[in-house]
Amino acid sequence: MSLAKINAAKAALAYVKDGMCIGLGSGTTVKEFIKLLGEKVRKGLKVTCVTTSFDSRMLAIENGIFVTETDAIEEIDLAVDGADSVTKTALLKGGGGALTREKIIDYNAKKFIVIVDEGKVQDRTLRGEVSLEVLPFAAPLVMRQLKKSNPRIRMAKAKLGPVISDNGSFIIDCDMVLENPKETERSLKSIPGIIEN
Ligand code: A5P
Repeated sequence: MSLAKINAAKAALAYVKDGMCIGLGSGTTVKEFIKLLGEKVRKGLKVTCVTTSFDSRMLAIENGIFVTETDAIEEIDLAVDGADSVTKTALLKGGGGALTREKIIDYNAKKFIVIVDEGKVQDRTLRGEVSLEVLPFAAPLVMRQLKKSNPRIRMAKAKLGPVISDNGSFIIDCDMVLENPKETERSLKSIPGIIEN
């Protein structure tokens, strides 16, 4: 594991306070954060966590962290999540296929901290893979709408066929240059069948 990821996770840990409800993101950088949080819990820190993927949920439980569901909490004090690419004003997520739950938890947190290593930082224009969570029924039609962006259904490595998200959907990846990320976000959300981007 890279030292940069561990250092980013350590920096986020400084924002954690006793009694907080914390949203746990997903990915390899957040994994380091969960392990460090687990160490603090073992030393007496009391926190409640909601998670953005089965992966983070399982890791949190393994590390002795109390995990609950969104209907059992009042508010999320802090969300800590990774990203695939970032500029100063926008970020791309979804490399781990957990984008929908991540977006829900991160959006609803009072404070949202993104932990990335230097390799993820882009200068001005965000470019790269834009991941979409898509209702399987709509997938061929969504792909037709986005054909200029080279859409492809993400295929699983340890199972036959497509990746099935934690919500039972397909993940479609596209290539995009995001001159105006907010506008792209809005226009993707206007295509029926795209659950999240
Ligand atoms: C999950 O869908 C992604 O958004 C992750 O948050 C992102 O891919 C994290 O990247 P790292 O694994 O490099 O932390």
